[in-house]
Amino acid sequence: MNKLALVTGASAGIGLQIAKELSQRGHDIVGIGSGDRIDKLADEITGVTVVPIQADLSTADGVETVLHRVDELARPLDVVALNAGKSLGGSFHDTDLDDELHMLDLNVVGQIRLAKHIVHKMAAQRHGRILVTSSLSALTPTPYESIYGPTRAFMLAFAQGLREEMKEYGVSVTALLPGATATDFHHTAGMDNTKFGSNAWKNDPTQVARQGVDALFAGKAQVIGGNASTKRAAALNKILPESIKAKRFAKDSRPGQ
Ligand SMILES: NC(=O)c1ccc[n+]([C@@H]2O[C@H](COP(=O)([O-])OP(=O)(O)OC[C@H]3O[C@@H](n4cnc5c(N)ncnc54)[C@H](OP(=O)(O)O)[C@@H]3O)[C@@H](O)[C@H]2O)c1
Repeated sequence: MNKLALVTGASAGIGLQIAKELSQRGHDIVGIGSGDRIDKLADEITGVTVVPIQADLSTADGVETVLHRVDELARPLDVVALNAGKSLGGSFHDTDLDDELHMLDLNVVGQIRLAKHIVHKMAAQRHGRILVTSSLSALTPTPYESIYGPTRAFMLAFAQGLREEMKEYGVSVTALLPGATATDFHHTAGMDNTKFGSNAWKNDPTQVARQGVDALFAGKAQVIGGNASTKRAAALNKILPESIKAKRFAKDSRPGQ
């Protein structure tokens, strides 16, 4: 029997490519998305069993739906990619608080709810691999995405701590830090009128996903997702002062560019 992988945000973008990568490495796929496009996942991924689940991971009920369906499969869970996430562009002065709280519910709270159950399951089976999609935004202030960046920083720090804790259970945790990637992400964040609005210069989600899955199976702590220029940007983020990084980020994220 194939191994089993669960991928959140599998209906599009980086998550869809992660699901495809895992399927090509012999994993059946449980794919999560909040809308009905997740039902098309089996058209995108062939040769393995695909179980699409429509669930809103920003809610406790949505997470429960996923956990219930996974338990019904009664199979070991070999890989989990905690990938679903969104951003919200604009000055914090102008953005809507409810939108921001919803983003926190999806990008942080829902991930932790899901991770709690997964960690128990993988610790009991004494094996497993967890891939956490964070972002290059975890390494810099993110003006005009000032709540989004901290959600990715949270997930990076969570992954790093969890990695150490889970070693004694034979479970490996890897963080994927993509640079700007050509998906619907910035459009959904309302950032069409920023430099991030154009997908022309961004990383290929296929490459980002492959780098993440390679690092996952190599048992690495983290990997930058993207091309050479993205890797240079990540290296710069380690040495530049926060104030300079904030100015540089704002050039790309400020509306009206
Ligand atoms: N694109 C970038 O530039 C970039 C850079 C760094 C990091 N990232 C990170 O990469 C991850 C994936 O982003 P992406 O670029 O692939 O974005 P995307 O193309 O917009 O895909 C987002 C995925 O999350 C799902 N999703 C959204 N809301 C959800 C909800 N409430 N419940 C369950 N699923 C939900 C979406 O499916 P439905 O719409 O069908 O629900 C979709 O499958 C995110 O965590 C993001 O922070 C992206």
